[in-house]
Amino acid sequence: MQASGSVSSAGTTFSTTSTLPLGHPPVNMHEHSNGACPVTREKHAYCPPQKGDVRSVCPALNTMANHGYIPRDGRNLTFGVLFRGLKACYGVSTTLGVVLVTGGFLGIGRSPIRIPYLSNLFRVKNPDGSVSPSGVIDLHLIGLHNGIEHDASLVHLNTQPGKKYPPLKIQDTWVSELVGDIQPPVPGYTPPDVDPSSKPHSDPHSQSESESSSGYYASAYTVPVLQKFVNDPTYLNVLVDEADVGRMRARRQKDILPMKLNAAHAEIARGEMSIILGVWSREHEGKTGIPLAWLLQWLSEERLPEVPISTSTQTPTPEANLESSENSDSGSDNGSDSTAKTKASTWKPTSSTTTMLWRPKRKQTLSNVVKRSKAIRAVTDAIAAR
Ligand code: HEM
Repeated sequence: MQASGSVSSAGTTFSTTSTLPLGHPPVNMHEHSNGACPVTREKHAYCPPQKGDVRSVCPALNTMANHGYIPRDGRNLTFGVLFRGLKACYGVSTTLGVVLVTGGFLGIGRSPIRIPYLSNLFRVKNPDGSVSPSGVIDLHLIGLHNGIEHDASLVHLNTQPGKKYPPLKIQDTWVSELVGDIQPPVPGYTPPDVDPSSKPHSDPHSQSESESSSGYYASAYTVPVLQKFVNDPTYLNVLVDEADVGRMRARRQKDILPMKLNAAHAEIARGEMSIILGVWSREHEGKTGIPLAWLLQWLSEERLPEVPISTSTQTPTPEANLESSENSDSGSDNGSDSTAKTKASTWKPTSSTTTMLWRPKRKQTLSNVVKRSKAIRAVTDAIAAR
């Protein structure tokens, strides 16, 4: 599909010509020179990747770039840039932030240490042929296969044999399949018609090299069939918990058989999801988990949720309830599970309801991530043992 034309914003004219996937809304093309967006007026407003931007296979980091928590072009990422971005965007504790960012650098064989001015003297040749100063990486490099990156991703194809980086394109039907792993079954869900040849143990190599490395097509729209889950506020009360993620992981690990994830990658795969389970955790009718709508939008569009806020004092919203319980959480790394305190009422949209961009109001600690990971593992292992 071709979208073309031009748009004038902030006194600048941008070309809007681009090739877009079917069903993709028109995108006004512009550039994120120096990592900033010339179109969005608010610092953390969403803007999908533009030409020249790089993205990774990590929905969390891509979302941070799409919202300007790290440079929007996905480049020039130092330890400090990533660490501050993770804290501001997701509310990770200092310990968790240090572990994630240090692990990110070391996992791809890069030093997290950057000595200003001197780092330029110590330049590193990257596996993709580019050269960067010591202590500086970009989102593309983070996806180096078998570093942190692993097979059996929830929404991406495996890295092709002989390639160093995985395809970035999100598999629309795989996002849909995640909904089928949720218990109790999600009303209105019908399994997608999955083409078995798109499964990674068959022939996953349908994506062109330019698509897989540009990052442009990785995100920016929610699959039409999933839009009802994202747009209908009743799905804010459909929660995804550790057991659901355990089923997702078990299904994807079965998909790649006879290949198996090694223990470290299996742990990383669980850890990735357990962080976000903590970030958005809430409770509804006895189930603690994260809103399905938010997870789908985050994974497919790499976008933060807009949360309902009420302009009327008569109508409490889940966010209002979250705020009161979150404020009582110390957020230290001492293992106290802040999510247990979270109570959310059923959200009923009213005419006085409006939305604002989600912002973290409690800290995500390393010990909580470890606890959630164990809960995911219990389910994945039980399914594998059947
Ligand atoms: C708030 C912090 C983070 C969260 C919630 C998070 C979450 C996730 C999730 C859910 C995935 C799996 C996507 C899938 O299965 O397709 C993922 C993948 C990945 N993440 Fe993150 N991540 C975080 C931070 C980081 C950091 C700091 C790095 C490195 C610097 C990183 C690197 C990666 C990589 C390389 C993958 C690809 C794994 C694969 O092969 O599927 N992530 N992340």
